[in-house]
Amino acid sequence: MTAISTARPEDATPRASEYVISVRDARKYFPIKEGVLQRVTGHIKAVDGISFDVRRGETVGLVGESGCGKTTLGRCIAGLLEPTGGGVYFGLDADARARLDALLADPTETRTPAQQRELAELTSRHRIDTMAKDRRREYRRNCQMVFQDAFSSLNPRQLVKDIVGRPLKIYREASGTALLERVVALLESVGLGREHLYRYPHQFSGGQRQRISIARALALSPQFIVLDEPTSSLDVSVQAQILNLLYGLQQEHGLTYLFITHDLNVVRHMSDRIVVMYLGQAAEIGSADRIFAAPRHPYTEALLAANPSLRKDRRDGIRLSGSVPDPARPPRGCRFHTRCPVATRVCGWEIDDAIRELDLRDGLLKGLSGVERHSDFAADLTFDTTDQAAALVAELRSPSTPEPMREALVGLRQDGGVVSVRFEPVEPVRLETVEPAHATACVLHTSQRPEVHP
Ligand SMILES: Nc1ncnc2c1ncn2[C@@H]1O[C@H](COP(=O)(O)OP(=O)(O)O)[C@@H](O)[C@H]1O
Ligand code: SF4
Ligand SMILES: [Mg+2]
Repeated sequence: MTAISTARPEDATPRASEYVISVRDARKYFPIKEGVLQRVTGHIKAVDGISFDVRRGETVGLVGESGCGKTTLGRCIAGLLEPTGGGVYFGLDADARARLDALLADPTETRTPAQQRELAELTSRHRIDTMAKDRRREYRRNCQMVFQDAFSSLNPRQLVKDIVGRPLKIYREASGTALLERVVALLESVGLGREHLYRYPHQFSGGQRQRISIARALALSPQFIVLDEPTSSLDVSVQAQILNLLYGLQQEHGLTYLFITHDLNVVRHMSDRIVVMYLGQAAEIGSADRIFAAPRHPYTEALLAANPSLRKDRRDGIRLSGSVPDPARPPRGCRFHTRCPVATRVCGWEIDDAIRELDLRDGLLKGLSGVERHSDFAADLTFDTTDQAAALVAELRSPSTPEPMREALVGLRQDGGVVSVRFEPVEPVRLETVEPAHATACVLHTSQRPEVHP
């Protein structure tokens, strides 16, 4: 395992048992298989190195466009998917958490045998995919998940009493009349009642079905609930009712929530902190107040600007265009650079960007017969004729090529029909703390800031 380079802004002074969940460098890659032999030809990097904590009793909003990896991360956290790398830790006290971070900060090869033993011990006690069976069971009980689509997550052939009572039965918490009374109490806590016990999911409205899902999630009195877009498929008025219900339940039971949504508006009033996710990574993490008042990442600004009800007090500059790039080949540098309207020279310009950009111009790549890549940042493009090669060089130097991309071009040479293109290689953009409890992965605000040319 490599060292974790991502900072976590909430590192200030953790109190004992303050954290329910600590996500460290979590990754989840799905293999892409092709051909009759189903050979693995690549990986979809749905979650690609994300770290943050969830404190006891708080709501963390996990926000990003569709396809950013939110559900995958939520399922890893709930223990429903095994991460490919990194991990999700549960029940670390302040000391154990500090030790874990210190150990993970050192690259594997420099750890002493004693450090390796200590890390193995922490991992087997606290990492949810490697902990002992009984602790994992305790975790699964303590962490529940509510899904966006209540209809497909509720068994259509089961009565409500069986759906909500099932966890209690599995964990042998209750049986017979006691079980039925527990189910009634759970239904009442979500605004339903005894009269709903003997009905099937299809006999309810969308909002009611989500109430049933919530009642089932509450059955084992968990500490922590992952809410995956719980209101996204509901009408606006019903959304508000479910949000109020969730808020009330949180106050009553001291619950901790990870609230996943693509819509910042939904978590605005519920969240204590927000993690903005882009292409499998954290773009920005901060208190909800600061994220809404003074976002430090253009992607967050774009999400705010895209939302009419949040736009009133926002600068108009940032607009989201295009869609989330392919997570099988995420852009270098800052993953947002292909869509960022304020990108700079050091944001990760690479050969793919040049080819995509030139492909937009009519006929320019027509004579391209070969691309020999030396790295993501350097390649030789071979054209049928010298004129075609010369036209490409002229185009890359012209103002029609975005200025930051032109500035990042450190080599552009033509030799007959071959054009050598070389961009300044850059490191991935790191998440850095920019003010207390606020971190961003944008070079405009961090130490990776490019020097400004006069
Ligand atoms: N089981 C899976 N197999 C392959 N790819 C998946 C699987 N689940 C999700 N993905 C891919 O991972 C990426 C992230 O998906 P997801 O976590 O559902 O994002 P979000 O919830 O933010 O919309 C997407 O490109 C999606 O197609
Ligand atoms: S680092 Fe900042 S400025 Fe550069 S592309 Fe990313 S978000 Fe835009
Ligand atoms: Mg999702």
